[in-house]
Amino acid sequence: MKIGIIGAGTIGTAFAKHVAAAGYEVVISNSRGADTLKEKIKQIGGNIVAGSVEEAAKADVILLAVRWQQVAEALDPLSLEGKVVIDPTNWDSPEFVLAEPGSKTSSEVVCQLTKGAKVVKAFNTLYAQVLAANPQVGGGKRVIFYSGNDDDAKAIVASILNRIGFAGVDLGSLHEGGKLQRFPGGPLSTLNLIKL
Ligand SMILES: NC(=O)c1ccc[n+]([C@@H]2O[C@H](COP(=O)([O-])OP(=O)(O)OC[C@H]3O[C@@H](n4cnc5c(N)ncnc54)[C@H](OP(=O)(O)O)[C@@H]3O)[C@@H](O)[C@H]2O)c1
Repeated sequence: MKIGIIGAGTIGTAFAKHVAAAGYEVVISNSRGADTLKEKIKQIGGNIVAGSVEEAAKADVILLAVRWQQVAEALDPLSLEGKVVIDPTNWDSPEFVLAEPGSKTSSEVVCQLTKGAKVVKAFNTLYAQVLAANPQVGGGKRVIFYSGNDDDAKAIVASILNRIGFAGVDLGSLHEGGKLQRFPGGPLSTLNLIKL
C-alpha cells in the first residue's frame, strides 16, 4: 500500500516517520516542490520519497496535513474520488466560530471539498510532539481516535494504525465522531490515553 502525505510540517512529518519506519512506501509533498524536502526525507529515512502534491495524491491513502486555511487551496486541483483521505485538520482559524454544535464538523467540510474521497478523521486530537513519540508506552499502545462514514476506509486506517503501533478507537461517523474529536472544545481533544 502506498501512502501520500500532503503537507510536510509537524503533523505530516510525525506521521511520515511512523509509516516509513513501518515499511510503507511513502510520498511526501508540500506546496514548494520536492527539492525543498531533500533534507527532510533523509532525516525520516525508510522507503520515503519527496514528490509533488499530485504525486502524493495518487497514493492509495493520503494524509491531508495542511493548516485549515490551506485546505481548500490544496484540495482544489486534485482528483480524490474513491481515495482514502486521512484528515487531521482542525479549525484553528477565525472560521472556528462556525463550528457550533449541530453544524458541520471540519471533516464533513473536508469531505465536501475532496469531491468524493472516503474521509477518515484521525490524528487531530494530540499535539504533534505526542504523535511523533513512540506509541508503545508502559506496556500499552497510545490511542488514536478516528471517525468516518465509510467502513472500508476506516478498516484501512485501523490497519495502518495497528501496523505503526497505535491503538485505534472508532468513534463512528464524521458527524458524531468529529464532534468528540473537535479541537479545541471536543471532550477527547488533547486526551493522551494508553490502551493496556
Ligand atoms: N501541530 C499540531 O500539534 C497539530 C495537532 C493536531 C492537528 N493539527 C492539524 O494538522 C494540520 C497540519 O498542522 P501542522 O502543525 O503540521 O502545520 P504546519 O507545520 O504549518 O505544516 C503545514 C504544511 O502544509 C504545507 N502546505 C501549505 N499549503 C500547502 C498546499 N497548498 N499544498 C501542499 N502543502 C501545503 C506547508 O508547507 P509549504 O508552505 O512549504 O507548502 C507545511 O509543510 C493542521 O490542520 C492542524 O490544525 C496540528
